[in-house]
Amino acid sequence: MTGAWHASLSKMLAQRVSDPDLVQLLDAIASACWSIARAVRTSALDDNQGSTDTVNVQGEAQKPLDILANDLFMQALDPCSRVAAALSEEVEEVTWLKSPQKGDFIVSFDPLDGSSNIDVDLSVGTIFSISTIVADNDQEVLQKGRNLLVAGYAIYGPSTVFVLTLGDFVDGFTLDLEADEFLLTYPDMRIPFEASEFAINVSRQRHWPQPVSQYVADCISGPDGPRGKAFNMRWTASLVADFHRILTRGGVFLYPVDEENEAEGGKLRLMYEAIPMAFITEAAGGAATDGIDSILDLQPTASHQRVGVVLGSSDEVQRIAAAHI
Ligand code: AHG
Ligand code: MN
Ligand code: MN
Repeated sequence: MTGAWHASLSKMLAQRVSDPDLVQLLDAIASACWSIARAVRTSALDDNQGSTDTVNVQGEAQKPLDILANDLFMQALDPCSRVAAALSEEVEEVTWLKSPQKGDFIVSFDPLDGSSNIDVDLSVGTIFSISTIVADNDQEVLQKGRNLLVAGYAIYGPSTVFVLTLGDFVDGFTLDLEADEFLLTYPDMRIPFEASEFAINVSRQRHWPQPVSQYVADCISGPDGPRGKAFNMRWTASLVADFHRILTRGGVFLYPVDEENEAEGGKLRLMYEAIPMAFITEAAGGAATDGIDSILDLQPTASHQRVGVVLGSSDEVQRIAAAHI
């Protein structure tokens, strides 16, 4: 039995988005995510696990699926005639698809997030955002998160869920293989204000800045500690998976700038990971900071720039930000 009573993504886009070129682009991205979901599901059968011998601009060994997911996403953009530029985590330079005119789309994406999880069959995803060229012939692609039109991601987990926001509602659509469609299953997702769950890679504790060490120490000291309650900790090493849990049931995600990664500016990528997730977070009623400033207010200066990230339930994020000042 299929969920035929759920609205389809295509129908919702046609109803809610007035620009037909944006509808086409979002349909194309959703279908790219569907193709990537298939490739993820069959990676062992297709001999697409392990690593390649290529290294991306971030200095990380590429997985076969990092490259395949990038190719599938780029192919999907091809027929979308208003896409001027594509920025991918896996590609060093900006890819120009046309000469830029005011209002053309800039698409930034992480084709496969959490790719270290592929070979161990844990959730991975695709993250994307869309902004616009501000003037004819303007080649500026590094737009502030505040100016995004759209952000979203797909999570390839027990089911494939496509999460999307145009800055108002955050809606989640489950891929229905029988109906051949993404169907609205999680309308108007809201991050609970308060939380008792945090996500951080604790193996980096010796490198953390003091406010982060203090925050985690307070959380794990339980009902007798300063927080007066027990906290739980989860870490999937896939931002999409950790974020999807927080969007669903609350919590806070931290990947701070620390002593070891500070020369690079942090670990997560501003354009491909931090900005899209921050945009979704704020649309869902949460908050996102680099420790000092709101991530959406940061002016990117390079396409592969890294940044410290704290995002999730606004009460927890405010608490951590206040400790940094
Ligand atoms: P990617 O697979 O796109 O390179 O991203 C991995 C990122 C992010 O998804 C995750 O939160 C983090 O790196 C995991 O870092 P650790 O390996 O330090 O846990
Ligand atoms: Mn990633
Ligand atoms: Mn990636």
